Amino acid sequence: MSTPLPRTILVVGAGGREHALVRALAAAPSHPRVYCAPGNAGIAADATCFNVPADDIPALEALALRERAEFVVVGPETPLTLGLVDRLAAAGIPAFGPKADGARLEASKIFSKELLIRRGIPTAGAAIFTESGPALAHVRAGPLPVVIKADGLAAGKGVVVAQTRAEAEGTVVDMLVNGRFGDAGRSILVEECLQGEETSLLVVVSGRSFIVLPTAQDHKRVGDGDTGPNTGGMGAYSPAEVVTPALLEQVEREIVRPSVEAIADEGIDFRGILFIGLMLTAAGPRVLEYNTRFGDPETQAILPRLSTDLLTLLWAAAKGELDNFRLEVRPQPAICVVISARGYPGEFPKRDPIAFPDHLPPGVSILHAGTARDGQGRVVSAGGRVLNVVASGSSLREAADKAYATCARVDYPAKYYRSDIGGRALKRT
Ligand code: AMP
Ligand code: GLY
Repeated sequence: MSTPLPRTILVVGAGGREHALVRALAAAPSHPRVYCAPGNAGIAADATCFNVPADDIPALEALALRERAEFVVVGPETPLTLGLVDRLAAAGIPAFGPKADGARLEASKIFSKELLIRRGIPTAGAAIFTESGPALAHVRAGPLPVVIKADGLAAGKGVVVAQTRAEAEGTVVDMLVNGRFGDAGRSILVEECLQGEETSLLVVVSGRSFIVLPTAQDHKRVGDGDTGPNTGGMGAYSPAEVVTPALLEQVEREIVRPSVEAIADEGIDFRGILFIGLMLTAAGPRVLEYNTRFGDPETQAILPRLSTDLLTLLWAAAKGELDNFRLEVRPQPAICVVISARGYPGEFPKRDPIAFPDHLPPGVSILHAGTARDGQGRVVSAGGRVLNVVASGSSLREAADKAYATCARVDYPAKYYRSDIGGRALKRT
């Protein structure tokens, strides 16, 4: 028998991913009350927001207790790593998201790499270093390009794909000698550089049970044609049609199931999202990384495709009741275009007042990623990624056309977005 659904839900986080989660949870047929901490100007229209930062664990616990949250859904990795879910469990509040032991899969790339290698799960070959001398000797002798990764969390900036010997050596020195990423970079991985198409697989895990969510592909570079620096993600679409049904079956067999088993065998009771970053190489799929949370912006393109109630799914995972759960997915593709502030991921202006379209066509929504209200009550930009335009359509092309028509109708001085989200898939059709 399944446990009754929670009536009060607290979502932790402040971005487009959290806005998508809040909307989907608030739309549950059971009509739960949804709160968010800290949220943003757009989330505040869909849920009561509390100004508690996502990394203040004692304050989040106190908030959950005070507001009698019956369920907490955690968006970002930092509170997971800091043990929010452990604290909530001790206070008797169920949560979706792993405890600190599970979050280590994202917080330590060395922990994950060792697990992958020990269990024979396909991944890039790697060597681990804490001293610059041996690391420099290794990159001087090895092939190029070479991938250098800080062990710990570095806000998406801890991975360098070095094209030249000088860049590789400079990165090693930056991390191990200059302490560029602090503790996160005191140990590094030097990895074989894989070639191929990247894709993200989000898996709802509950102990040894799991459900694979619809596939999605993210566009990480800031510029059209996948040029310029890496970002948190400039857009995503679902399904990722490079992942054919046969390939998905192979990935489940060779990567997803062995990963879930390996994690459970470590004694980790993982209840949350295992996000597997994959490189589809000529020799087969390989794991690039694990994250332990919903992807941003993948989630914004995946959730519109679920016809299953999201709350029922996340609650079943949190309560250890995922066995025999059936996920219903809509065939219609969905796309998410990120509208950022020009200059991101470098320096960018903030506090641009935003003009929104008066109404949105069916199947289109605008989520807020980095917005706030100014002293006059106007919605202003407050982050590098500002808004997400999400659209569904009978084809990816239709979804993209609808999303871009809406992007054109949003206005603020530093508005910037890529014009080719979905491009890799659209080119093939
Ligand atoms: P990660 O945070 O580990 O996913 O790395 C960030 C990005 O760096 C990935 O999305 C890839 O684009 C790239 N990357 C990471 N590891 C490798 C690798 N072994 N080979 C090629 N590219 C990689
Ligand atoms: N979109 C990649 C991530 O969420 O890490």
